Amino acid sequence: MSELAPVEVDAVVLVGGKGTRLRPLTLSAAKPMLPTAGVPYLEHLLSRIREAGMRHVVLGTSYRAQTFEEYFGDGTDFGLEIEYVVEDEPLGTGGGIRNVYDRLRYDTAMVFNGDVLSGVDLRAVLSTHREAGADVTLHLVRVADPRAFGCVPTDPTGRVLGFLEKTDDPPTEQVNAGCYVFGRNVIAGIPAGVPVSVERETFPSLLADGATVVGHVDTSYWLDLGTPAAFVQGSADLVSGVAPTAALPKAQAHDIDRLILATAQVDPTAVINGGSTIGAGALVAAGARIRGAVVMDEARIGPDAQIASSVIGRGARIGAGVVLVDAVIGDGAVIGAGCELRGGARVWPGVDLPAGAIRFSADG
Ligand code: GTP
Repeated sequence: MSELAPVEVDAVVLVGGKGTRLRPLTLSAAKPMLPTAGVPYLEHLLSRIREAGMRHVVLGTSYRAQTFEEYFGDGTDFGLEIEYVVEDEPLGTGGGIRNVYDRLRYDTAMVFNGDVLSGVDLRAVLSTHREAGADVTLHLVRVADPRAFGCVPTDPTGRVLGFLEKTDDPPTEQVNAGCYVFGRNVIAGIPAGVPVSVERETFPSLLADGATVVGHVDTSYWLDLGTPAAFVQGSADLVSGVAPTAALPKAQAHDIDRLILATAQVDPTAVINGGSTIGAGALVAAGARIRGAVVMDEARIGPDAQIASSVIGRGARIGAGVVLVDAVIGDGAVIGAGCELRGGARVWPGVDLPAGAIRFSADG
């Protein structure tokens, strides 16, 4: 997508969550700062916000608040003007939106969950909002299996009919995609200084009060990066181009199968595919096979290791012949030669597993 002319809309990004489902990766970094396709996830989102023409961004932070400003500064390097509003105690999604009210410059704000990877046409969502004269417009995405989400039915004109809890038999496949357009006066109406959930409190009470709440429904790419499996999938989709971004870093190798950052050292006999990223300063030894994985900066992958759908934390060391499938290895952890970890195993930062300590099979 080419860059569009500026619009008078504030972008508000909620990045205050603790990211518990991604532990231990989120012990040392806030979820939106975790590298996906080589840069913090938030950088991909900000690149899309800029492409859509927004220039003024307010980040609602809480957990590990300082790490955002350390990386993004005042936003100049990213073509944006970025402000930070810190919640001393997390105020939840609605409270986080209310908390940035004083920084808003325009009558319209576009609010983003800071952990959703999406291909929605942001300008089209803004158009839906304007054309409907809405108080709030929600991006609703149609998903194949809506049972894991609360769903949001709309009438034929696009008016939202209700916010339904998860059920085994959802009446619609439209789910809340975590991207909203708010009229500024609607934000003023959210109670200040107390925790509020936008999904469970603000939206239902707006409906009850007769506000114009509208859905912008599409079938664009959409992924909530909350879990390790979604995190590796999202990173791979950014690498392969399935998920749109204008923020992929300069790399020594990049195609749909891999992104190898400039200072990584990869043995020519290693096989890297499935949208894997090899971080800066990482080493990949001879015969290693890495499929659909995120290998963070300075990690070392030993000879003949086999890694699939896994995240290898910063500076972690993976021994010779190690097998990792659907595993998360914390920063600086050491996985001794011949270990085998599968099925959602999570190794905490700095843990040192001796050679052969854990296996899922009798041989080897
Ligand atoms: P989990 O603990 O794994 O559920 O992750 P999370 O803490 O990020 O929660 P969730 O995925 O439900 O949050 C959705 C979005 O809202 C994320 O971008 C969070 O950063 C953000 N968020 C959640 N709670 C708060 C909060 O209290 N304040 C702010 N500013 N943002 C929040």
